[in-house]
This record gives sequence, C-alpha cells and structure tokens, in this order.
Amino acid sequence: MDLQLDKKSVVILASSQGLGKASALAFAKEGANVTLASRDEGKLKEAAEEIFQATGNKPSFRKCDVTQPEEIKALFRQAVKEFGTVDVLVNNAGGPKAGGFESHEDEDWQTAFELNLLSFVRAVREALPHMKQNGGGRIVNIASSSIKEPVEGLLLSNTFRMGIVGLSKTLAKEFGEYNILVNTVGPGRIATDRVAHLDEIRAEKLGMSYEEAKQQHEKTIPVGRYGTPDEFANTIVFLGSFANTYVTGQSIVVDGGSTKAY
Ligand SMILES: NC(=O)c1ccc[n+]([C@@H]2O[C@H](COP(=O)([O-])OP(=O)(O)OC[C@H]3O[C@@H](n4cnc5c(N)ncnc54)[C@H](OP(=O)(O)O)[C@@H]3O)[C@@H](O)[C@H]2O)c1
Repeated sequence: MDLQLDKKSVVILASSQGLGKASALAFAKEGANVTLASRDEGKLKEAAEEIFQATGNKPSFRKCDVTQPEEIKALFRQAVKEFGTVDVLVNNAGGPKAGGFESHEDEDWQTAFELNLLSFVRAVREALPHMKQNGGGRIVNIASSSIKEPVEGLLLSNTFRMGIVGLSKTLAKEFGEYNILVNTVGPGRIATDRVAHLDEIRAEKLGMSYEEAKQQHEKTIPVGRYGTPDEFANTIVFLGSFANTYVTGQSIVVDGGSTKAY
C-alpha cells in the first residue's frame, strides 16, 4: 500500500522517546519530513540522529514544552519554515500523575488538563489553517486504552483522555468537509519507559518484583505480551497517512486484545 507520505510535513509532539519517537521513525521510513518536539533538546538531537541513521531522512527538531502555548506556536513556525507546511499532526504528551481521587489536589487536575488536553487543542489550532489551505490533513491523537475502559489508579488519565475523544469526534465532524481526518489511538501496554515506571510503582505497592508485576499484566493480555512501540506506530502511521481516506472520528485501542469493553 502506498501511504502517500513522501515529503509530507509531519509534526509529532512529545517525540524524544517512547510512542512519539516510534511514530516519528515510522513516518520517516515512509519518506515524510518529520518535526520532533519535547522538553529535552539533548534527547531530541539523539532521536533525530537515530531516525536519520535508520532512514536517511533527517528530522527537524525543536525544544517545546507542550504546556507552553508560545513554544507550541514556535514549533509550528519552525516546521512551516523548514518544510513549507503542515500536513499531519500527531498529538502526544507525557502521562499524567498516577493515583486515585483522594490523592489529587486542584493543582494536579490543572496540570493534567494543560498537559493532556489543552496542549492538543493548541496544536490543532496551529495545524488547521495549513491543512485547510492544502485541501486536507490528518490528525492523530495519542491517548490511552482508558478511552474504552478506565484504568485502575489512573484517574487523571481516565478523565482527560475522554476529553480527547470528544475533541477528536467533534473536529472530525467540523472539518471533514476540508478532507481533514481526525482519530484517537489508545495504547494498552506498550513497552516504553512510562510503562516500566508504572510497573515499578505497582511492584513496590504490592511488595513484589518488577518482573512479577510485569508477568501479572502479561497474563491479562490475550496475545500474552506487551506491545512494542513500532507495533503501535504502525496504526498511527496508517491513520495519519493519505492512504486513509475514510476513517475519521474513531477511537481505536492498540492493546493486544486486553480491553474487555466492546
Ligand atoms: N506506553 C503505553 O503503553 C501507554 C499506555 C497508555 C497511555 N500511554 C500514554 O501515551 C503517552 C506516551 O507514552 P510513552 O509510553 O511514550 O511515554 P514516555 O516513554 O514517558 O515518553 C513521553 C514523551 O513525552 C515527552 N514529554 C513529557 N512531558 C512533556 C511536555 N510537557 N512537553 C513536551 N514533551 C513532553 C517526553 O520527552 P521529554 O522528557 O524530552 O520532554 C517523552 O518524549 C503518554 O501520555 C502515556 O501516558 C502510554
């Protein structure tokens, strides 16, 4: 299948490691002009070099804390300056603080809102005019499997990821006429640093080893293992490609079958 991504300008937020970086690599393999962003310039430089070595395609990168509106604006200015426009936006951010209702103060709620929902709104605002002008665009929002079934001990994720679903579905309706397709993808347990960190917290809480905590999770996944970042990225790249011409407003989980809800 030709994904029609050659020379397309793709902006990927929170992409110095994990799911964002894996998605960037997958787009670069398809010949896209990728712009990476995160808070850590050193990590971004390494990620860009790694992607260049693997694909021969050199990503642009810029330090951008997604909670800072001016930094988001500057990121898009750079992408447009380097690659002429923005065709595809992949929204992503660091995970919100873990915990249940009684462990969060107003400040935690506000921080999670700004990190995990408002940042997506602001990036969409910057990308849309270019997509409209180009006669089309693709937006893929990375959320969590909590868009189908709440995850125990992750109240802030359970709350704000559903905001992403509402945002995506509404944008899909509002901008379908411009050939701008918008979808949400929820990872289940994909082996990244974030998941290793959550397993460590859980292992400590339950007084077991990290390996035991991981194995407990693996037993609940029908395919019997955690996913890899590149497996996850394959779904992002298809939805963010111009081979995708008719899937929009959807929420899809990539979870090895672990979500029990329909
Ligand atoms: N992996 C999974 O299975 C899984 C499951 C459910 C949900 N998720 C969600 O999917 C997202 C990505 O997960 P991941 O596993 O790839 O996490 P990760 O390995 O921890 O990577 C997070 C990325 O976000 C960047 N980042 C964090 N805060 C940022 C900020 N304020 N501004 C800009 N960039 C920021 C980090 O870069 P810097 O440190 O360089 O800024 C890093 O590149 C998270 O929201 C996570 O909660 C993941």
